[in-house]
Amino acid sequence: MFTPYYRPRRLRKNEDIRRMVRETILTVNDLIYPMFVVEGKGVKNPINSMPGNYQLSIDLLIKEVKEVHNLGVPAIILFGIPKTKDALGSDATSDDGIVQRAVKAIKDTMPNMYVITDVCFCEYTDHGHCGAIKNGTVDNDTTLDMLGQQVITHARAGADMVAPSGMMDGMVAAIREALDDNGFIDIPIMSYAAKYASGFYGPFREAAESAPQFGDRRAYQMDPANAREALYEIELDVDEGADIIMVKPALSYLDIISRAKAITNLPIAAYNVSGEFSMVKAAAKLDWIDEAKVALEILTSIKRAGADLILTYYAKDAAKWLNG
Ligand code: PBG
Repeated sequence: MFTPYYRPRRLRKNEDIRRMVRETILTVNDLIYPMFVVEGKGVKNPINSMPGNYQLSIDLLIKEVKEVHNLGVPAIILFGIPKTKDALGSDATSDDGIVQRAVKAIKDTMPNMYVITDVCFCEYTDHGHCGAIKNGTVDNDTTLDMLGQQVITHARAGADMVAPSGMMDGMVAAIREALDDNGFIDIPIMSYAAKYASGFYGPFREAAESAPQFGDRRAYQMDPANAREALYEIELDVDEGADIIMVKPALSYLDIISRAKAITNLPIAAYNVSGEFSMVKAAAKLDWIDEAKVALEILTSIKRAGADLILTYYAKDAAKWLNG
């Protein structure tokens, strides 16, 4: 009988040795929970394709944020759905906009909750695109001015960090300049640096009511086939002054996360997006998989690939599973 000389199984024998040689430890500190805020009072609209997630009015959002905070999740990222949308997404740049009021309400009641705002226009425009339309497409440089106005209102409301997601060229530099010119030198920018034109955003567009009314986002979001272009996007954002760079989606793009880690020493965030969440939820509902096991495996894999921070709709559940 052949007997091997090398036996890696020795270090897998029991949980004691396994935990000693474990390379990646997922903790609640790694997680950021995305939340959706709407106008009204007492509103809690379930998002069908994302069980356990809701569109919440500010009063109920506060309650939910308290729960998130009590679970030890350090941060939330906030998406706003305004009552009225228009061509320029005016609610997004108003001090009285839905997100601005929500941020203020959260910070007033829970100053210790770290609040990140998504900076984009697709939830606020009637056409559903991520900026101002000119000649049938999103006009980059007009949108940069609008982004500058948007972040200032977020900062004035008390946001701790801003996260531009529109994939406009020069957005990080434009936002840094707007923040600095208005005295917000200490607010960091987490840039959605490599954001792909992905089918995995489907459920989010129901949640945020942000589906484009014509065409798609391929003229600004990246082609899923490209990797070197992602590295170029990341280099540009680092150069423009980003504090954290993000790869999105996460699961089909673990190679991008890993390569991003190799080219920058900035923290890397990865967005475990809505479609990735919904697929696990759906399979779990059919009893085809063990939900907690699969969800934690996915989050651990994203961290193993190189993510320092993970935006995930599983943040609350994961906190419970990790603490329990
Ligand atoms: C754009 C934005 C999107 C997501 C986050 N920010 C959607 C899009 O580009 O259409 C998707 C997040 C998810 O799918 O969970 N503001």
